[in-house]
Amino acid sequence: MTQDELKAAVADAAIKEIEPWLDKGTVLGIGTGSTANLFIDRLKLLRDSFKGAVASSQASAERLKALGIDVLELNSVGTLPFYIDGADEVNADLQMIKGGGAALTREKIVAACAQRFICIADDSKYVARLGEFPLPIEVIPMARSYVGRELVKLGAEPVYRQGVLTDNGNQIIDCYDFNIKDPLELEARLNAIAGVVTNGLFAARGADVLLLGKGDGVERTA
Ligand code: 5RP
Repeated sequence: MTQDELKAAVADAAIKEIEPWLDKGTVLGIGTGSTANLFIDRLKLLRDSFKGAVASSQASAERLKALGIDVLELNSVGTLPFYIDGADEVNADLQMIKGGGAALTREKIVAACAQRFICIADDSKYVARLGEFPLPIEVIPMARSYVGRELVKLGAEPVYRQGVLTDNGNQIIDCYDFNIKDPLELEARLNAIAGVVTNGLFAARGADVLLLGKGDGVERTA
C-alpha cells in the first residue's frame, strides 16, 4: 500500500471509531494536515449525524465549511468527545511530535479540550524515540533570535521556517538534532522559555487511541 492509501485506511478507521458515539449535539475536534483532510472528507457523509466541529486551523475550517459542516468557536463549546488528528511522529506511549503544518498551538488547545485524542497516522510516523522529525516551536516574532539561542544551549540546531506565519501571526523554529530522552520533561522545559508560544511535543497530553496504518491493516492501540 502507498502512504496515501495507508492514510485513507486510518481515516476510514477513525470514522468507524467515532460513528457509534455521534448524536445531534456532538461537536468534534478536528486536526490539520493531509491525514486529517482525508478524515474531514469522509465526515461529509455523516454531517447530519452531528452538530459541527471545532477546527485546529483556518485550512481545516475552510475544508469543513466547504463540505457543509458547521464550524464552531471553541469558546462556545465545552468539552469535545473526540479530537482526531495526524502526527509527524508517534511513539509507543502515544506521545507525539506535531506541527509540521504549523498548526501546533491550536492543535494543542483543541486536544486539551477533548476527552479522547484519536491519532491517525501511517506507519512511517511510528518511531522508537521521538526527535528524528525536527521539533517545531511556535514563537512570538520578536523573541525568535532569543529563543533560538536558548535552544542551542539545550543542544538543538534551530532553523527558522522562512516565509511561514501561523494562524496566530507567529513564527516557527524547527529544532534539528534534539536528543529527546524525556519528552514530558523537555515539553515543560521548552514552554518555560520566554517567547515560546507552544512546542510540538504532545507528551503531557498525548493520544488516547492510535490508529496506525500498516501494510496488513490498521492497528489500534489504546
Ligand atoms: C500539523 C500537524 C499534522 O498533524 C502533522 O504535520 C501530520 O500531517 P500529515 O497528516 O500531512 O502527515 O501536526 O501541524
